[in-house]
Amino acid sequence: MERMLKEEDQVLRFSRLNRGLHILMIISFISLSLTGMSLKFSYTSWAVILSHFFGGFEAAGSIHRFAAFVMICVFITHIGDLIRIKRKEAGTWKKLIFGKDSILFNKKDLEDFIGSLKWFLGKGERPEFGRWTYWEKFDYFAVFWGMFVIGSTGLTLWFPEFFTRFMPGWVLNVATIIHSDEALLATGFIFTIHFFNTHLRPEKFPMDIVIFTGRMPLEEFKIDRPQEYKELVEKGELENHFVEAYQPIVIRGIKVFGWTALSLGFFIIIWIIYAMIFSYR
Ligand code: HEM
Repeated sequence: MERMLKEEDQVLRFSRLNRGLHILMIISFISLSLTGMSLKFSYTSWAVILSHFFGGFEAAGSIHRFAAFVMICVFITHIGDLIRIKRKEAGTWKKLIFGKDSILFNKKDLEDFIGSLKWFLGKGERPEFGRWTYWEKFDYFAVFWGMFVIGSTGLTLWFPEFFTRFMPGWVLNVATIIHSDEALLATGFIFTIHFFNTHLRPEKFPMDIVIFTGRMPLEEFKIDRPQEYKELVEKGELENHFVEAYQPIVIRGIKVFGWTALSLGFFIIIWIIYAMIFSYR
């Protein structure tokens, strides 16, 4: 028998593992940005103040390596989870990578992108987004790309004796430049475009906590992901995704964490802009 929909019904969007991984990613990324930028801009007064907070520049380097280790673990765990999903749910890599709810770009993303531009100009309706929007897919692959570029160059800086056994020494100089500039790009991207797309767009302003709670109210889900909602209703699977809302105290804790992360991100951007304009060498 069909259950009556309740106003407070919430729809699950992210597994517990993915929520945990995102929290660890936030903590490690912000730590890497703060310590990395204080090394990059070590000649600025704010980097000196920040390095005192870390216990000196050398300690900032150690914190950087520890946070890098956490981030690499997050990445490996995610890959492990994809392998598990492929085995247990998708069956084949083809289905996982090219299936309907895949995070890989497809024709609909291009249509949605063009549709969004028209919508911004008041020349059409908002596109009916499905499981993932085109900007979420872009963000996902930006992180994937960043992990390879920043991670691989970071490892050569971490273990120079090992890598120079089979690479010429100048590779380390090139790796430093790539690591440093790609890190600047990643930081700039995450704390402006990712923050805007996720939290600052009018529908979500000032903060979307769905990545922490993993769930969103049914009414919001209908508006935010109309295509996914329709498909779930047609297949009669919507109710399988219902979960209870968290207690207000949990939501309050989540908001404190979210606001801390957002504020640190905005501060880092202001520092970077200041350093680039007034003291970049
Ligand atoms: C995940 C893998 C990463 C590894 C293994 C890694 C490793 C390293 C190492 C060993 C250094 C040299 C530190 C020192 O001199 O004491 C370094 C520097 C740096 N890292 Fe990372 N890092 C990683 C990720 C990141 C991320 C995500 C960011 C920022 C978003 C970042 C930003 C920086 C910056 C700005 C520097 C200073 C480069 C310079 O001197 O110009 N790193 N990293």
